[in-house]
Amino acid sequence: ALSARRTAALQADIEALVDGLLDALPPGETVDLREHLAYPLPIAVIGKLMGVPADQRTAFRTGVDNVFATHLSAEEQAVNTTALYGLLDALIETKRTEPGEDMTSLLIATRDEEDGSALSHAELRDPLLLMISAGYETTVNVIDQAITTLLTDPQQLAHIREGRCTWQDVVEETLRHQPAVKHLPLRYARTDIPLPDGQTIKAGEAILASYAAANRHPDWHKDADRFDATRPSKEHLAFGHGVHFCLGAPLARLEVATALRLLFERFPDAQLATERTALKRLPSLISNGHASVSVRLRPMPSH
Ligand code: HEM
Repeated sequence: ALSARRTAALQADIEALVDGLLDALPPGETVDLREHLAYPLPIAVIGKLMGVPADQRTAFRTGVDNVFATHLSAEEQAVNTTALYGLLDALIETKRTEPGEDMTSLLIATRDEEDGSALSHAELRDPLLLMISAGYETTVNVIDQAITTLLTDPQQLAHIREGRCTWQDVVEETLRHQPAVKHLPLRYARTDIPLPDGQTIKAGEAILASYAAANRHPDWHKDADRFDATRPSKEHLAFGHGVHFCLGAPLARLEVATALRLLFERFPDAQLATERTALKRLPSLISNGHASVSVRLRPMPSH
């Protein structure tokens, strides 16, 4: 369902969703584009793919936001996990009674098969949680960071408008420069892992993978701290690496590129309503975005 080919077939649906969101923005006013574009798009896309009914999506958003909110206490996280599992149980119940053309119904059909290949309840519920949560806040952050960068660095917008790079280049450079997941907690070394600098991560020690640091490694990219959509190689680890490489990468790339392209076509003169330095970062060790991204959709008439 998430292959590059199947994802490409969603292009028209995603364009229609973005157009609908842009239609609802009031031209000439200041709007929080994180709230009114970056959030609702991935929620609508993954909500549709997974068959989450519209009236359950807000509750999922709160639950998923809290998964990334690393300032919550362990007790608060435990309450949140219970609530999220409750929502997933309700979703499974809804889809069992009224199956639809969605992945949740497909997984349930697999679970209910009686040839021994059926999934256990946990094997059904945990991937659902992973799919729904992975499809939300991550994509939100890339849209947020790309808009913020383009509105503070007019040279990058000029590169696109004058054909020196594509929207895909902007998406990749945003993923490299401001990965949506800054750090991924938490792995444990199964054996001693010797590092090239002579240190060793001992078996059993905790590992926090920092994609943000890796993507700006000076041996990997020249002038790595600078956002440059025209740099020839934008290789990055924002989607992870190896066997757990992000399954939703083609979908996320398509959503972000479509949102940016249609936003800047519709509102070519959009301006950030605050200084970039005044934007508040999310209080999260994982999630790399801003609390809000206020944008004036047309410059105010000068007096
Ligand atoms: C820009 C947006 C996204 C970013 C930055 C991102 C990032 C990541 C990262 C870093 C991993 C690896 C985790 C690990 O190593 O354990 C991952 C895995 C995963 N992502 Fe994404 N993701 C994004 C969007 C999505 C979307 C839209 C979906 C679903 C439609 C999705 C579904 C998944 C799944 C299912 C996995 C687990 C793969 C596995 O364990 O085999 N992601 N993602």
